[in-house]
Amino acid sequence: QVRFFFRQELNKMVAKKNLCVLILAAGKGTRMKSPLPKPLHLVCGIPILAHILKAAQELGPAAIGIVVGHGADEVVSAVKAGLTDWGITAPVVFIPQTDLSGSASAVKAAVPLLQKFETIMVLNGDTPLLKAKTLAHMADVFEGGEMGALVLGVNVPNPTGYGRIIRAEDGAFEKIVEETDADEDTKKISEINSGMYVFNSKALQAALIQLTPQGPKQEYYLTDTLALIKEMQKPVLVFAGPDYREALGVNSKAQLAEAEQIMRDRVASELMDEGVTLVRPHEVFIDPGVKIGVDTFICPGCYICGKTVIGKNCTIEGNVYIKDSIIGDNVTLKMGTYIEESEVAEECQLGPYAHLRPKSVLKKGAKVGNFSEIKKSVIGEGSKVNHLSYIGDTQMGAGVNIGAGTITCNYDGKNKHQTVIGDHAFVGSNVNFVAPVTVHEYTKIGAGSTITKEVPAESLAIARSRQVVLENKGIKKND
Ligand code: UD1
Ligand code: CA
Repeated sequence: QVRFFFRQELNKMVAKKNLCVLILAAGKGTRMKSPLPKPLHLVCGIPILAHILKAAQELGPAAIGIVVGHGADEVVSAVKAGLTDWGITAPVVFIPQTDLSGSASAVKAAVPLLQKFETIMVLNGDTPLLKAKTLAHMADVFEGGEMGALVLGVNVPNPTGYGRIIRAEDGAFEKIVEETDADEDTKKISEINSGMYVFNSKALQAALIQLTPQGPKQEYYLTDTLALIKEMQKPVLVFAGPDYREALGVNSKAQLAEAEQIMRDRVASELMDEGVTLVRPHEVFIDPGVKIGVDTFICPGCYICGKTVIGKNCTIEGNVYIKDSIIGDNVTLKMGTYIEESEVAEECQLGPYAHLRPKSVLKKGAKVGNFSEIKKSVIGEGSKVNHLSYIGDTQMGAGVNIGAGTITCNYDGKNKHQTVIGDHAFVGSNVNFVAPVTVHEYTKIGAGSTITKEVPAESLAIARSRQVVLENKGIKKND
């Protein structure tokens, strides 16, 4: 076990100096029916292309090339903006493809880059479910033999749309036939080309110049290079993929949804393996990379996104949304709570329907209840904002009680101002704090007050008009 693990780690760490990964992402993606370039459609919160880049990065390649064409500018700027977030440290080179005449033309456009390397891994830009482990395995097997090319083949329940792998009687690879060029017998073959390959760079380059256009659209098929390489007496191997779902190509919105569901299920089962309790694992939406502690209990309909970290023994009720936040141990998040870019310490309780906007910090044991909104504020240890309040730009101490309907008036139409509420202050219902304003520790603020001036420690402030009662001015009972 340890040896196996070590080998895996080693594979990850040792940079393969002669390996270049080339990702084909220039295609039109017509079947998506969307102005957004296909590689930028999201699966579990990040673009399809980001999943492919992350897997490629784990191989430690000397360079990653991305062929761009349709929507090139958009793709290039999205990738540049995401590289750090996705942990891509290998040099990334963008290669423009102008003719868009097929997957082989895309590779041809990259020849000046490919010439610098011995081994080229080519990946379609629309297979977000590929696993780094499988790619590493392919690269190892390729390195171990004197091969011309290796292609990842999988048996799928429904091969429609994919290129079929044709084998000779002895099982050896013969060629790939695309769906559009396949006869009825070929269409019955369930072993398909995943669109992931490893090539000997020289053999690939030699094959590319021999290609002729094929099919109804007269395209140059990358898949045809494999038969040509075989004709050059260089062995071509079909590497049998461990899980056909890794090869799912996203060509339509239905396939996008399918990829999303498969990845969500993968994340959910990994979390359950680590001891997280998911009541209905197919009905939670947790991004890859989210960390959750043991025995945290998560109900259906929750979205847990981005760089969120959640502690152990938390209870997360239905339809809770959490993005880029840190949640401590033993926290209860009741139904409908919404949390963004915030920190919630251990033993806090939120909701139902609490809203933490960015840069909110809840200290240990704090409570934020029904329909309360917190923005860019600190809620001190054990303090409570339980009902219908807005607290923005506020520093609140420990042991504070905020009455129902209390509002910090932080915005004067031009600027935002701070409210400071000292430890153990007791704020009655429906108070307005007109910021900038400070109320010190152990103060009491009368219900309905509009506080505009500093309140010293241990004092009571009441800022509302006195009650007047005028007899017989009400409604006459018998009128
Ligand atoms: C391709 C394979 C098919 C395989 C399937 C796996 C070819 C000819 N066929 O079919 O055997 O089973 O993938 O998913 O390769 N691209 C460019 N420039 C172009 C055309 C395409 O960069 O001019 C890129 C696309 O952006 C895409 C990839 O190449 O990432 C594959 O193109 P796509 O049109 O999706 O090919 P498929 O028909 O799915
Ligand atoms: Ca495809």
